[in-house]
Amino acid sequence: MKAGDTVVIASTNPGKIAEVRQIMAGLPIVLLTSDDVGGWPEIEETGDTYLANALLKARAVAAVTGRAALADDSGIEVDALDGAPGVRSARFSGERASDEDNNAKLIESLDGVPSERRGARYRCVAVLVTPDGEEIAGIGSCEGRIGNEARGTGGFGYDPWFIPERGSRTMAELTAEEKHAISHRGKALRGLADKLRALRGERSSG
Ligand code: IMP
Repeated sequence: MKAGDTVVIASTNPGKIAEVRQIMAGLPIVLLTSDDVGGWPEIEETGDTYLANALLKARAVAAVTGRAALADDSGIEVDALDGAPGVRSARFSGERASDEDNNAKLIESLDGVPSERRGARYRCVAVLVTPDGEEIAGIGSCEGRIGNEARGTGGFGYDPWFIPERGSRTMAELTAEEKHAISHRGKALRGLADKLRALRGERSSG
């Protein structure tokens, strides 16, 4: 990949797409979305891990579009729920569940669980797959806990309920910049971008 190359964001989640754009804004690449490339058939997330699902999505979109594809698979793991919903976070309360449905199920599941047992973390694996089969990954996590009330309007998904460690505001009360600086997605995408730069640097000098 070179400066100016195009990369398709292999997601249809508007919250995620907005964040990927913001986090990758400094890179010399053009980001496209499903609408720009005529869409793709639904991709079933059948993997058991974030990496497996991210690879499924990126490989499928690279194959359909003939372009490099960037996928993020992410989720929230709650200690009191033995790590659930994890890779099933988007479908916690059923297929095609809304964020509201998922949050309602999360809060119901934690009914009566005291603050000290509401530990949780977001995790993200981001992968870039090129049409010639190159695959680069980055990972990130963000520790915190599930609060007792929803607060804030930023972010998406579970953010109004998730309080990152070392603070009292929910993820949805942070600015986008503050969220990306500490978030699982920010860390995963910056790690991926660093690897990409290192690989390209090595190749051009070698
Ligand atoms: P998937 O990666 O498409 O399987 O979906 C990840 C799901 O995890 C999202 O639909 C959200 O429910 C949740 N999630 C992932 N990242 C975030 C985040 O940054 N904030 C809130 N919820 C998130």
